[in-house]
Formats: sequence, C-alpha cells, structure tokens
Amino acid sequence: MNNYIKIILFSLLQIVLLGSTSLAQNSEVIEINTKSTSLVYAVDQSGRLIFQYYGKKVEATENFKQQHTYSKPDTDRDFSYEAYPTFGLGNVNEPALAVIHADGSLNTELAFETVETKSNDDFSETVIHLKDRVFDFSVELHTKAYFNEDVIIQWTVIKNNENGTVKLNNFASSFLPLKAESYYLTHFYGAWAGEMSVAEEKLENGIKAIECKKGVRTTQTENASFILSLNHPSQENSGDCYGGALAWSGNYRLAFQVDEWRTLNVVTGINPFLSAWNLKSGESFTTPEMIYTFSNAGRGQVSRNLHDWGREYGMTGGKEIHDIVLNSWEGAYFTFDENTLTGMMDDAAEMGIETFVLDDGWFGNKYPRNNDDAGLGDWQTNTKKLPRGLDYLIDYAHSKGLKFGLWIEPEMVNPESELAENHPEWIVQSNGREKITWRNQLLLDLSNPKVQDFVFNVFDSLLTTHPGIEYVKWDANRHVEQAGSTYLSDAEQTHLWVAYTEGLYAVYDRIRAKYPDFVIQDCASGGGRLDYGALKYHNEYWTSDNTDPLSRIFIQYGTTLIYPPVGAASHVSTSPNHQTQRMTPLKFRFDVAMTGRLGMELQPKDIQGDDRIFAEEAIKNYKQFVRPLVTTGDLYRLKSPYDEGGWASQMYVSKEKESAVLYAFSIEPHLRGIYPTIKLNGLDANKTYQITEINKNDKSRFWGNGHTFSAEYLMNVGVELKIADQYDSAVFMLKAVE
Ligand code: DGJ
Repeated sequence: MNNYIKIILFSLLQIVLLGSTSLAQNSEVIEINTKSTSLVYAVDQSGRLIFQYYGKKVEATENFKQQHTYSKPDTDRDFSYEAYPTFGLGNVNEPALAVIHADGSLNTELAFETVETKSNDDFSETVIHLKDRVFDFSVELHTKAYFNEDVIIQWTVIKNNENGTVKLNNFASSFLPLKAESYYLTHFYGAWAGEMSVAEEKLENGIKAIECKKGVRTTQTENASFILSLNHPSQENSGDCYGGALAWSGNYRLAFQVDEWRTLNVVTGINPFLSAWNLKSGESFTTPEMIYTFSNAGRGQVSRNLHDWGREYGMTGGKEIHDIVLNSWEGAYFTFDENTLTGMMDDAAEMGIETFVLDDGWFGNKYPRNNDDAGLGDWQTNTKKLPRGLDYLIDYAHSKGLKFGLWIEPEMVNPESELAENHPEWIVQSNGREKITWRNQLLLDLSNPKVQDFVFNVFDSLLTTHPGIEYVKWDANRHVEQAGSTYLSDAEQTHLWVAYTEGLYAVYDRIRAKYPDFVIQDCASGGGRLDYGALKYHNEYWTSDNTDPLSRIFIQYGTTLIYPPVGAASHVSTSPNHQTQRMTPLKFRFDVAMTGRLGMELQPKDIQGDDRIFAEEAIKNYKQFVRPLVTTGDLYRLKSPYDEGGWASQMYVSKEKESAVLYAFSIEPHLRGIYPTIKLNGLDANKTYQITEINKNDKSRFWGNGHTFSAEYLMNVGVELKIADQYDSAVFMLKAVE
C-alpha cells in the first residue's frame, strides 16, 4: 500500500472512531434510590463499574442498560467515568485511588465482581465488590442510602491480599462526576472568631481544592463541606444543588476538577498530604464517610435534608430538647473563687437557665491553671480556688435546680504541667527539634494507645468521681505543627495524621459505649472541629468564640447551611462585645441567640432592671415556643445577610406545619421609612396562622400583631416589619388556627 492510500485509510478510520458511539451495552445496572433521588452505576461490557447518574429520582434500569458512551479523541477505549477511578486505567484526572503495589508497580485497574444490598425501612446499604485485574487487591464501594432524608453516604474498604505491603497514596472516600454547562461551588472558610464564612465561586478548568493540613481543629480555616449548584449560582428555593460533607476530623481534601471535557470530577476524602498508609498483607483500610444530598429545589432543601439526617444519624441526641446554658468563660475567665461561681448560679437559676458550665481554670495545683500558660493536663481540682472541691459546686448547682457542666481539653498539655514532666514521650514531636507551642500548649499523641487510655480516663474518672456532672465541654485549642510520634515506627510516621483521628474516635467510642446519652459539647477554639465525624459523638457545638450577635448572624447562617441548628450553641454575651468591642441592644443579642441553642456567656448579675425583666421573659419564650421549633422544625431562610438590603431573616416551621417562629434582623442602618417586606416560606398553603410578636420590648414591630393571615398571603404578599435602625430585630410566633 502506498503512503497516500495509507493516510486516506487512517483518516477514514479516525473519522469513524471520533464520530462513533460505543455499541456495547451495560451488563448490569445498579440503582440506589431514596425518596426523591437516584444514584446509578452500571457495569460495562469490559467489567468496569461506571458512574451513570446522581440526581432527581429516575427509575429507568432499561435505559441505563442501553446507555452508550461516545469515545473521546485519541482514547482507544470507551471513555467513561468510573465509579471509583484509580490511577492506571487511562484516568487522566484526579484519582480516587493511587497506590504502590507490593511489587512496586503503580497501576490499579478495578473490575466489578459482585454487588449486594441490604435494606430496612430507613435505609439501604449497597456494597459493590471491585478487584484489581492483576493483583489480589480489592475495594468495596459502600453506599448507604437514607430514604426519607434523601441522603446517601459513601465510603470504601480497601483490602490488600498481595504478598507484601501496599502503600496507599491517595485513598478517597467517594468520587462524583457531574455534567452541566457551569458549576458554582459554595464553600466555607474563616479563622478563629470568624468561622464558616460563605464564599461562592464559579469553577473553571483546573482543580479547586478545599482542604486541611492541620490535623486537629480541622475546620478552623476551611470546613469539610460544600454546596454545588449546576448552571447558575445557588438559589434558596430552586435549581439543582448538591450538598456534601466529609465525616472526618483529620486532614481532608475535597477536590473539584473541571476536566478537558467540561465534566466536574469531585474527589473527596482524607488528604493524601504526607499521609501514605502502609497496608500490610491481609489488612484493610476503611475510608471516612462522605455524606451527599441532592435537591432540585435549591440549597434550602439541601440544608433541610442534611439537618434531618444530622439530627437523626449525624449527632448524639439531635432530636432532644437542649438545656439553656450559662457558661462561665466570658463572665469569669480564669479569675474566680467559689463565691464567683455560686453567685453566677444564683442568678442563672433565677433567670430560668438550666445548666451551669464551669469553663477553663478549675484545675492544676503544682502548676495552677490561672491563665493559659500552665496546668493543662493536670486534671485535679485547684484547691486554692475551690477548697471544697467540685462536689461542693455540683451540690450547689443542684440545690438551685441547675445541672452542672465542666470544661476539659484532654488532648492537650502545657509544657508547664506535671503531665509534661511525667510523660514527655506522649507529646506529638519531631525528633530532635525544639517543640513549637500554640497558646502555650502542645498536643498529645493520640496514635499511642496509652494516650488514648489517658484521655478516656480524664473523662471517665471525672464522671465516676463526680457523678453529678451532667455536661462536658470538650475543647481543643491547637493544631498539629510538627508531625511526629515516638509511638509510631520510623516507617509509619506518615500514619500520624490518620492514626491521631482514629485514636480520637477510639476514645469517643469508649466514652459513648459507657455514656451513650451524656451531653458533650464539641468545642475547639470555637467551631474549629465542626464536621460530621466529630459531631456524631457530640450533642452540640460551640459555633464560634465570637459572641457578637452581628458576627453570629453570618457565622450561624454559614454553619446551618450544613449542620443542624439544634446543636448551634449560641450565647448572649455582654456589650461591648469582648471579641469585636461592638455595642448592641440586649434584645438583638437575645433574638440572635434564640435562632440556635440559647445560652449565656456573661456575668449574669450585670443584667439588671428592665434588661433583667426582658431577659427572663425571653428565656420563658424560648422554652415555651421557640425551642421545640429550633429542635425539630424545618429551617427556611428568607433573607440572607450576604444579600443586598442589610437584612437577615429566617423561620423554623414545625413538621406538621402547625406552628412556626419568624426572626428578622436589621443588620445595617436604613434610611428613615425603609422597612423590609418578608415573604414567609414553608407554611401549609391551606392554613391560616395567627401571628404574635414575642421579645417585644415595649414596642410592636408589626401592624398585624395578633391578627390572623392566610398562609398564601404570608408567603406571597409577605409582612412589612417596622425595623430599620441597625441592630433592630423582631421575633414572631405563628400558630395555625382552625
Ligand atoms: C476556647 C473556647 O472556645 C472558649 O469557649 C473557652 O472555653 C476557652 N477555650 C478556654 O480556654
């Protein structure tokens, strides 16, 4: 054949290849359904497990069976997005799995083996077994689908049956490829006192990663969660939206890669950064759970799905009524004696508060904890400040009808402490290097089982010695700086990141086995460890150290996009605020705090006169009307503080739509006569509701106070509220009437 004919034939072949569709049919379709969503995989003719679809519910097995894929230019086999893409199978994008096999080879190619599904009324669990085509190395892809909540969670179990150790480099929990014209990512960032700020950006080609390399306090900067909107920026009540959150309190990486074919590859899981895991022959590794939800009705429904799932499965006691707390920190800091605390309890009881929590500063004798530079790790009551011990305070609280709670930070140690003197080897450290402190403290190495025992015992012995303690605030005020463990072998130093988190979870598992319902607050310098991995063990979270109500409107708006509001500890503090120096009215502080788990963070005797009357009334209102709705109601966001206008507004509506609470805040100064019109949401369109203003503070902010309105009116016409000054606010109860 001469060259000219060869070129023509080659070109013809190329045209055929480029323009052709694959004729191969899928041999098996795996459909995983919830009430309103479907996730579909298929096994193609070559035995690969291919991702087909995740979105609004479709039951169309036959269509997925015949679904064809177009080949891409220059790819010599059908190009499809695998369910769990590995490095080594022509995958050019971010892999979910990349390992070095026992013989040193870098490639993995997973083929479908079997699938099994178990289900009950609440969820189904599907396990898809995949195996490398060459080595005795396998992956189980687990998907648990929660029917009513429209949530799926995914994780993998990676098993090594090769003759030697396999090094796991990238070992993600989940992979999700999405196809749209454009992608908008909402993610959360911040810092101490400014957690969960919201940013939304359009994703362009390349990789955008949300990640943490800090090991502990993983969400101090970016949070391991996101919302993805297809084709336009996310909207509250419309549009295709995916919510995602990784249940992991260690280093994580959420990678979003728009590839050359404009498909978005979402790879989520443990951060591969310096984390290679040596998986010995016969061992398996389980990746953390990745939580997903989808709604075609915008981010509002995404949040409600996550809240429902979170309350039911993602936290401890998520559907229980939470006590109103007085926490001693901002009212006393480290400077207190018995009288300071009993005085606070007297006021707390009078005001209707239910739990008193003694924060930092109660422990350490050789090295008393009088500020943050000594004593951490020495969990004995300081006899100078508290000569009659904790039991005196506990009994005093009980005599006032209050529960007693206590602060601990058991993962940490001050160099100036007996613990650091006795167990220097328990500290996370890098051989031969000077240790770097943060807030004067170092981190204990939870990869070490002895340290796990110590941390468990801090908790357990406090509770066994003082059975009257009914609440613990668990703090964690630093991150990993110099990764290194005296417990792990030289070859396993990269295990520290994962082993620390697994060690922490092992401690929590022991605690929860012994104290299943005990109330624990998740605190890490504020909301520094807010993720569904940690939340599972906690009843609530300290949203931020910033208690300024204006800051809190933003922080709580971001936080409750993903996490259940029932757990958002939200405290009224003093004015001017200790973090921002801003001055705000007491009503504004209460109204904001009542959008979450209400508490106080001040010296209560400073609230006197009319303010005291207002505070006591607000606490009554919270207990009687608001708290049940914050606990189990549905959150509807009506005005975002991030939008133009200078307002923020939201509602909680009871599941049966019999009652609701509406909040509105003026967060900027408005010119005279400019008032917000707020259109309500989530009500039963066939019902009529009576509106009653609470926390009124003398003046009414709605002309229709006490009147009844049809839901149709409230949701379409809306209510114009007389709030205009900065920090003015209003709260209303709605009751369905016959
Ligand atoms: C940080 C926490 O977020 C605060 O609420 C307080 O408990 C301090 N630590 C105490 O050191």
